[in-house]
Amino acid sequence: MLARRGRGDYTYTMNRITIVGAGRVGESTAAILAREELCREIVLLDINEGVPQGVALDIQQSGALLRFDTRVSGDTDAAAMEGSELVIITAGLPRKPGMSRSDVLDANLVIIDGIVDDVLRHAPDAMLMMVTNPVDVLTWYAWRKTGWPRQRVFGQSGALDTARMTSFISMETGYSVKDISALVLGGHGDAMVPLPRFTDIAGINIEHFLDGETIGRIAERTRQGGGEILALKKHSSAYDSPAAAIASMVDAIGHNRRRIQPCVAVLDGEYDQRGLAMGVPAVLDENGLVEIVELKLNAVEEADFRRSAELVRSDIGRLPS
Ligand code: 2OP
Repeated sequence: MLARRGRGDYTYTMNRITIVGAGRVGESTAAILAREELCREIVLLDINEGVPQGVALDIQQSGALLRFDTRVSGDTDAAAMEGSELVIITAGLPRKPGMSRSDVLDANLVIIDGIVDDVLRHAPDAMLMMVTNPVDVLTWYAWRKTGWPRQRVFGQSGALDTARMTSFISMETGYSVKDISALVLGGHGDAMVPLPRFTDIAGINIEHFLDGETIGRIAERTRQGGGEILALKKHSSAYDSPAAAIASMVDAIGHNRRRIQPCVAVLDGEYDQRGLAMGVPAVLDENGLVEIVELKLNAVEEADFRRSAELVRSDIGRLPS
């Protein structure tokens, strides 16, 4: 993964990333990865002939203005993912206003099942980042189906949920997002677990700046963050912030940063959970999700985490064995 960037400037990055699904999230993700030159080549895959090719061409042409050299191509043939170091799955049905993420499980399971088959056939050495909802359940499903080590199969949700909490804190306090470090664990659903105790502004816990009621309001708005945008837009879920969240994980992996980010991880006893995947802080480096950071939760946090886990587990119970 050693690549040359500019004159004499070597940095670790990836050669080829495939994004499956050229819908809103896939398109936005491709645009950010290309602009940030997080890999040399992006392959955008979709089943709708012409769509991935058109989206790719559009992004490619923006490169002449934005000055990036990333190559972007689109295809409907899964074989185009060959040689990818990372496959990001965004394909699937988005929920409609009033639906929960679990409501799209049955429809998206069929789609993900076929895509994971494609990955096994064409990119058996890749890492797999799941984005399609319900992301915790589908990450678990993809991990189980691939039989790969969990470090190579993980999902995006906590980076987005944490970004939402960070934004709300910044909007409430007026302080820069650059100094705010928040943390949201648990499943990517209404029972996710924002953790004010692990949230600070320039190292100072947010309780110094905000009263309990305001923090509670921010936590609840974070839990409903995706639904709030969906209710406003009506015909589309969020896509710019999910794409930025994906890009932050790709940056951590591609640049071997060992960043700690909340990710959807397959748990094997951590947090007293096994047999499911859900959001926990994890270390991302060039080998993927290499470590899970176990926090000592207090009784309330632990009960919230357990409740969130039970909801994920009940959806996993709906999967075919
Ligand atoms: C969100 O939270 C779609 O799950 C995604 O916006």
